[in-house]
Amino acid sequence: MALVKACDLTDLSDDEIYKAELDGAPPIAIYLIDGEVFATHDTCTHGEASLSEDGYIEDGTVVCSWHEGAFDIRTGQACRLPCMDPLRKFVVQVIDGEVFVDLD
Ligand code: FES
Repeated sequence: MALVKACDLTDLSDDEIYKAELDGAPPIAIYLIDGEVFATHDTCTHGEASLSEDGYIEDGTVVCSWHEGAFDIRTGQACRLPCMDPLRKFVVQVIDGEVFVDLD
């Protein structure tokens, strides 16, 4: 397990997607949904859109504004075409107000 600090819990809000840029890893999107923190790759699997920059949260999904495809934030599964391949999901731990992701 390679836990890396991604941000502070106070950096997150319900409506926004936080982009974590960590050494040696592709950008990671961090979400706060109903008080729980989730993390996925930031790049849409349909194209090269950054979900934190070009996406938005809708009913527990992240919608990519480039072509309106969507992914389930909790599972990373694609749930609306044209997205078909899942986003990689990362295990998250919140410790003393700090958000860590497992890069393994
Ligand atoms: S690049 Fe994201 S839906 Fe096409």
